[in-house]
Amino acid sequence: MQTQLYGKDFITTEDWTNEELETALDMATDLKRRFLAGEPHDHLLRAKTLYMLFFEESTRTRTSFETGMTQLGGHGVFLTPKATQIDHGENAQDTGTVLSRYGHGIAVRDCRTNIGQKYLYDLAKYANIPIFSMQDDVDHPCQTMADLMTMREKFGDDLRGRKFVISWTYAPKYVRPLSVPQGLVMLMTRWGMDVTLAHPPGFELMPHSLDAARAHTEESGGAFEIVDDMDAAFEDADVCYAKSWGPIMVTEEEQEVQSMADENISWKADERRMALAKKNAIYMHCMPVDRGYEATDGVIDGPQSVIYDEAENRLHIQKALMVLAMGGRI
Ligand code: CP
Repeated sequence: MQTQLYGKDFITTEDWTNEELETALDMATDLKRRFLAGEPHDHLLRAKTLYMLFFEESTRTRTSFETGMTQLGGHGVFLTPKATQIDHGENAQDTGTVLSRYGHGIAVRDCRTNIGQKYLYDLAKYANIPIFSMQDDVDHPCQTMADLMTMREKFGDDLRGRKFVISWTYAPKYVRPLSVPQGLVMLMTRWGMDVTLAHPPGFELMPHSLDAARAHTEESGGAFEIVDDMDAAFEDADVCYAKSWGPIMVTEEEQEVQSMADENISWKADERRMALAKKNAIYMHCMPVDRGYEATDGVIDGPQSVIYDEAENRLHIQKALMVLAMGGRI
């Protein structure tokens, strides 16, 4: 257990050691048990304030952070660039310094490519309260930690040798960031798993996230491979995590994105593909899921799906991270 986490930023799992991440997972399990048992724990962040700044929309992240603060006895303040002076050009130094004088933590969702995570680190430079990433262009660390918690609940804490697949899927409508697949390959390679990343050509991830995944694989004794065949990826998998992301390393131009995606419309999590995986394999998705495109309703609502457990665990892991970074010993 790592006890020196007060004041620590949580911008990417890369900044936390395995021991620190395990501490958060243990605390999340404890807080989940207390929540389910109806044990009050609203003294843990009593009268503390978290500022939640969203550059993009959210269902799960906003509600789970805000609800988490309520359950811990504090308050979450919802902010957007438009509702603040950020849209008028106020910089990270001024925003971060002023919010630090009022509250106890700042959480930010900023998925702008090559801007988002830099903005969070910029805030962290000036704020003397912890900064949490609620998703940026590089990582979605609260999501991937909730996913890891879910996998440990299903398979036990020792995940060594388990085959974890993160596969691209087709989806129409909008360009999704790279942060979830990048966060997953960076985090899941740390626990000795056999990690497979599958995507069609053009849907590559940022090189430094792949370098991090390779380095973690070396350290943890697992495996990491990249394939361009969804069927091959799903074969004998324990975890089939299948979601869409944009060809951001190539283009973010809407029509080009759509035509690149349209060439790969068959990349979908369906019953046939799930049958290629192990019998007790689980299907994962961070949500929102594009039903009928990314996966069939049969898979999404089927017995192997754990998507609502993942969403539920967002609440518990975020509460744990906030208690560790914003709370305090007595
Ligand atoms: N998974 C996730 O971050 O969902 P929202 O975009 O709804 O917050």
